Amino acid sequence: MLLSVESLSASYGNIRVLWDVSIKVEKGEIVALLGANGAGKSTLLRCIMGLVRFHDGDVVFDSQSIKRVRPHAIVQRGIAYVAEGRRLFGAMTVEDNLRMGAPRKCDDLKARMDLVYSLFPALSERKEQNAATLSGGEQQMVAIGRALTTKPKMLLLDELSFGLAPKMFERVLKSIQEANLLGVSILMAEQNSERALQFSSRAYIMENGRISVEGKSQDLINDPRVKEAYLGLAD
Ligand SMILES: Nc1ncnc2c1ncn2[C@@H]1O[C@H](COP(=O)(O)OP(=O)(O)OP(=O)(O)O)[C@@H](O)[C@H]1O
Ligand SMILES: [Mg+2]
Repeated sequence: MLLSVESLSASYGNIRVLWDVSIKVEKGEIVALLGANGAGKSTLLRCIMGLVRFHDGDVVFDSQSIKRVRPHAIVQRGIAYVAEGRRLFGAMTVEDNLRMGAPRKCDDLKARMDLVYSLFPALSERKEQNAATLSGGEQQMVAIGRALTTKPKMLLLDELSFGLAPKMFERVLKSIQEANLLGVSILMAEQNSERALQFSSRAYIMENGRISVEGKSQDLINDPRVKEAYLGLAD
């Protein structure tokens, strides 16, 4: 087991948002986290990263609790996070944005950067371009690339498809798959449920801050209740 979220509950102020959430990601897996707007997907990812404090439960990564660990130290332990909305440094170049992911003193910086450029060839032609001038898809690539230069064991991805044309989303997914084949485990929160189920091996569906359905993605795609409620497909 690489990541285990155990009976986690979290609130923003007095408002409870997550209730007794438990999920697991095995080494090498691609796991999807689905659910309607406001279900709590982003909050769960933020709890894992130490960006939102949670009052009950635990997060165990690589056999150790990371409950009280600070976000930057969680990154050092091997979890990288691509937030909703990408959050690049627009006035900095692609190259400088990517370099931000690597530690300041780092003897394999070139290898880290080369890996990103091999996964995202479009970026190698734009190294010196300011991030703000990139297309939405290219910015998404930089955000993922910056996460990968931390050399993560695991990537948390929040709404990769957001604002992307289907073709661009496919290109990004292909690179994620390549990173996965190189050993990076994936937990992805995604609105595009159908594509996320095709892409992942297992999935969790959240509803009002709770996990309501979990299983193998293939089984969920064929489950009439899931089809109707989450995929917009009548049986
Ligand atoms: N910073 C915050 N302060 C207070 N409430 C918040 C905050 N962020 C999120 N919430 C609330 O927490 C709930 C879960 O939000 P969250 O963003 O985790 O959902 P989500 O599943 O990621 O939704 P979406 O698909 O729209 O991204 C929502 O009711 C939201 O209004
Ligand atoms: Mg969200």
